[in-house]
Amino acid sequence: MADSSFVTVAKTADLQPGEMMYVEVGDEPVCLINLDGEYHALNDTCTHQEASLSDGEIQGDEIECPLHGGAFAIRTGAPVAFPVVTPVEVYRVRVVGDEVQVALLER
Ligand code: FES
Repeated sequence: MADSSFVTVAKTADLQPGEMMYVEVGDEPVCLINLDGEYHALNDTCTHQEASLSDGEIQGDEIECPLHGGAFAIRTGAPVAFPVVTPVEVYRVRVVGDEVQVALLER
């Protein structure tokens, strides 16, 4: 994968452990999460009914959707709580200096 596919979306100082934020990469809505110092990026749109996952809550290593309580594993995007049954896309994330960068290719 070419390095140019990574886009800077935040500074590391913008996102402390346990926090998440909504960012966009191109036209794609992305939920950027700092999970105990590891950065993860998921498509922000819940696969159930289009809620914004960045309005939800981090519970351990899962993210809970704000609308119906469905949840996904942050590391893999796998559905872990009903009514979510379809995985959400997860993207590549890297830190370069103090910049957090996301590439839309699935990891
Ligand atoms: S929209 Fe996310 S669980 Fe329903």
